[in-house]
Amino acid sequence: MKLLVTGGAGFIGSNFILYWMKNYPEDEIVNVDKLTYAGNLDNLKSATPSPRYKFIHSDICDAVALREALVGVDTVVHFAAETHVDRSIMEPGAFVRTNVVGTHMLLEAALEARVGRFHHVSTDEVFGSLELGSTKKFSETTCYDPRSPYSASKAASDHLVRAYFHTYGLPVTITNCSNNYGPYQFPEKLIPLTITNILEEKKVPVYGDGKNIRDWLHVEDHCRAIDVVLRKGKIGETYCVGGLRQDVDNNAMVHKLIGLMGKDLSAIEFVKDRQGHDRRYAIDWTKIQRELGWSPLHDLDTWLVATVEWYTKNQDWWRRTKSGEYQSYYEKQYGAKQ
Ligand code: NAD
Ligand code: TYD
Repeated sequence: MKLLVTGGAGFIGSNFILYWMKNYPEDEIVNVDKLTYAGNLDNLKSATPSPRYKFIHSDICDAVALREALVGVDTVVHFAAETHVDRSIMEPGAFVRTNVVGTHMLLEAALEARVGRFHHVSTDEVFGSLELGSTKKFSETTCYDPRSPYSASKAASDHLVRAYFHTYGLPVTITNCSNNYGPYQFPEKLIPLTITNILEEKKVPVYGDGKNIRDWLHVEDHCRAIDVVLRKGKIGETYCVGGLRQDVDNNAMVHKLIGLMGKDLSAIEFVKDRQGHDRRYAIDWTKIQRELGWSPLHDLDTWLVATVEWYTKNQDWWRRTKSGEYQSYYEKQYGAKQ
């Protein structure tokens, strides 16, 4: 099989490429990535020498490049996106361009190339925000109610993907998953930011009262979920993917990480809340478990130990990503004193 992976130099995309090359040694992979601030070819050092792997430095909004990249491709796995909510609040335009227009360009190219599968990677954030204290969870039948420029642009992309299935018969599948964590995550997101700030002896910024709740999914479990959907998923269907059964709020997450790293809670600094900050996400992942036999490999605490270990051992990787553009973003987001 030949796969086109978009956004393969990013966090989840690069984990997926490494996962796929290890588990499917016969397959070929073409990675189309624009290399924004979040794209990092260092993640793919072990894949690069392989004749089964090809990198194309391109924007998914470039129809000509997409047409060439799709020659001989059976399956598209679409990760490329602008992904950070805080940046979407600062500069929403880039999110509309890549997540909406880019997804449309890719759908057009995939339809023309008659691919056998178009898998779209999306987020639970399209469903909006649940109340604190409620036991409700998002599922495949939850109505869309996005509230940030990021989630609104991902919701639009999901609608386009479904429209291409219903209108043109493009064989699509969609996964809406929760917050990922693991190796190679850009340190703007909560877990790698917390671990790397602790390693740098900096404060850990927690927004608002820290009681916001996310569902947490290890990136390897996410790759396994996409794998099972590609192999056994039903065309036209959506699968929700989450990692937890019980709520963990941001305070609890940060406390766990601080504890694992042998520090005390004085490392925390409560900072100004995010605008429009979604309170609670929780995913009901019964469908993918029941129909496709997927469940997480390990529990949160086990995966967090592995994650702290990875960032502790791979300081060269994240220290490079934290220099340059990241510095000016950090000052804009958190102020210069941090
Ligand atoms: P990321 O920000 O780490 O990587 C995104 C990648 O896309 C980068 O390599 C970047 O260079 C590339 N890219 C951006 N714009 C592009 C364009 N116009 N053309 C080509 N490439 C472009 O993102 P991630 O965390 O790996 O997320 C991957 C996908 O998973 C996204 O679609 C995201 O919405 C979805 N998702 C992520 C999470 C999460 O917690 N990280 C959770 C749910 C869903
Ligand atoms: P984030 O990793 O940005 O993912 P998302 O916004 O897509 O869920 O944030 C996860 C949670 O952590 C969210 O409730 C916001 C909060 N957060 C902080 O408290 N401090 C931070 O510095 C960051 C980046 C996030």
